[in-house]
Amino acid sequence: MEARYLQVPILSDRFGFIGVVEGGENLPFAPKRFYFIGGVPEDASRGSHAHRELQQVILALSGSVVIELDNGDTVREFVLDGPHTALYVPPGYWRTLRSFAPNTVIGVLASKEYDEADYFRAYQDFLKWKRNG
Ligand code: TYD
Repeated sequence: MEARYLQVPILSDRFGFIGVVEGGENLPFAPKRFYFIGGVPEDASRGSHAHRELQQVILALSGSVVIELDNGDTVREFVLDGPHTALYVPPGYWRTLRSFAPNTVIGVLASKEYDEADYFRAYQDFLKWKRNG
């Protein structure tokens, strides 16, 4: 599976907007968890881990963030700069989240509950796992 952008339908009127992430193309798994991250200093980065099984959809609910995804072979950079575009992250990507604009809040839909055993916290362990198929 490849990481990819997802278009998030936004319903706007003069009273604001509603963005919807649901079903099929826009949500390739049944979420078991939602969490959000904010208050990240501009010069800080987060992530620096990979997951064995976890699938995620990441949204910049406000602000913007750069997400670097490394599948062990190639590194791709994705930019989320509003709620109209989300990022689908399949298992097996080492991720780094950086360049958070001030007041950015990201929301994450996840396919599983939090489980530390699903994490690779060391890059070399992740690479070894990728290389051994
Ligand atoms: P982590 O996934 O490493 O976040 P980031 O990559 O953004 O730095 O999680 C940071 C800490 O928060 C870690 O100690 C585990 C805890 N945590 C939970 O308890 N539940 C969760 O759902 C998540 C995402 C993290």
